[in-house]
Amino acid sequence: MKNYEIQKPGGKLGVLIVGLNGAVSTTFLAGIFAVRKGLSLPIGSLTQMGTVRIGKRSDNHFPRIKDFVPLNSIDDLVFGGWDIREENCYDAAKYAKVLNENDLNNVTDELKSIKPMKAVFDQNYVKRLNGDFVKKGKTKHELMQQLRDDIELFKEANSLERVVVVWAGSTEIFIEQKDVHKTIEAFEEGMKNNDPDISPSMLYAYAAVSEGAPFINGSPNLCVDIPAIVDLAIKKEVPIAGKDFKTGQTLIKTVIAPMLKMRMLGLNGWFSDNILGNRDGEVLDDPGSFKTKEESKLSVLNTILQPELYKELYSNYYHKVRINYYPPRGDNKEGWDNIDIFGWLGYPMELKINFLCRDSILAAPIMLDLILFADLAQRSNMKGIQEWLSLFFKSPMHSENIVPEHDLFIQSMKLKNTLRELMNEMPITHLDTNGVEHSVEEYECYD
Ligand SMILES: NC(=O)c1ccc[n+]([C@@H]2O[C@H](COP(=O)([O-])OP(=O)(O)OC[C@H]3O[C@@H](n4cnc5c(N)ncnc54)[C@H](O)[C@@H]3O)[C@@H](O)[C@H]2O)c1
Repeated sequence: MKNYEIQKPGGKLGVLIVGLNGAVSTTFLAGIFAVRKGLSLPIGSLTQMGTVRIGKRSDNHFPRIKDFVPLNSIDDLVFGGWDIREENCYDAAKYAKVLNENDLNNVTDELKSIKPMKAVFDQNYVKRLNGDFVKKGKTKHELMQQLRDDIELFKEANSLERVVVVWAGSTEIFIEQKDVHKTIEAFEEGMKNNDPDISPSMLYAYAAVSEGAPFINGSPNLCVDIPAIVDLAIKKEVPIAGKDFKTGQTLIKTVIAPMLKMRMLGLNGWFSDNILGNRDGEVLDDPGSFKTKEESKLSVLNTILQPELYKELYSNYYHKVRINYYPPRGDNKEGWDNIDIFGWLGYPMELKINFLCRDSILAAPIMLDLILFADLAQRSNMKGIQEWLSLFFKSPMHSENIVPEHDLFIQSMKLKNTLRELMNEMPITHLDTNGVEHSVEEYECYD
């Protein structure tokens, strides 16, 4: 087992959010303030409410994750961020219409006190948005430098040693990885030449990592998932994680698909449809932004079902994902999944799932967990891509030459075993004979 030396959290942790005035961000902030005031429980947050089993089943030892690993307290988070509109977070939360008046009234002052900094924004990358609260600069490199200055100033103004940066901004148009993304040198050059394949979200990621701040990408944007920034993160010893918060339909997909595979049930087709009416839905109504989201949502099934191994069951299924902008629903997304499966002697069966969810209510606790875990990773000297955080992402970033892990159960085991390892506890394999669980050392066969 590797020995980790974890620096104690101590002091305040800065949280800079890109897209500070969005639905997810303002719902997250309002929730944090309500929890701090004892008005609500942090429901949906693994770090705050989850437990981790330590030792044998018979030991009956299940500490809360926040008591087991040294996480920053949510009372010690300091918030800031960027947006393309100048309004404070209270006005933005009202616009987002996720939370009711009563919940917003409870935290009005706290939300009003948070205002964004000017954004780095270019409408060519998010066609359905425009805003005038944006930075000016001759080159992308200059704009990136301005973001670095913002991070520095935020740290100084709040006497902070550590800052985590989260992208909760809009989904940008689909960008494929090109040569400009491959090395730090090419990327630096590209920023100076205003290369069109460098999007604003990449500039935030580059600035954060350059400043030694862990970066989390909650959208499906290519953003931090390019070799140039991965290399920079390793060089600067900074953790990074992404992409795309796994909240609704994909969360369910990554539970149902492993179940089908575990029981060797075949799949003929999976049709996933959605209606939503928030600003994210409006942005995704543009074909360029939708393609970015579609790629993220489609990648899940093939990786879990492994058609190359199970040709008879999974080599010929039809998979479709649709997102329809439907304003009356606001943030209350409705998703339908129609799943055509087959069993013994090839007899067909159908599974229908209708999830009436709330987009930002599901995303907010994930944002909290990712911030706290990314900071823990930083203090534990874990650098580069944090695959153990795959549980929270639709399209988890992964090292080259290996496939991502999408299966929710494996992701959860991976996360909890990482926490155990960080604290020098034995990983749990669930192996046992005659009802007696053995330690990994006895078996030496876990992966
Ligand atoms: N359940 C979920 O809500 C969910 C799940 C997975 C991923 N996401 C992703 O999270 C992101 C946020 O979702 P949302 O519902 O809050 O969307 P939103 O449209 O309400 O918020 C996005 C915010 O980003 C701002 N923005 C856009 N470009 C920016 C830039 N370059 N710099 C600074 N600010 C910028 C916008 O002005 C807006 O305030 C989206 O990319 C979405 O796809 C959301």
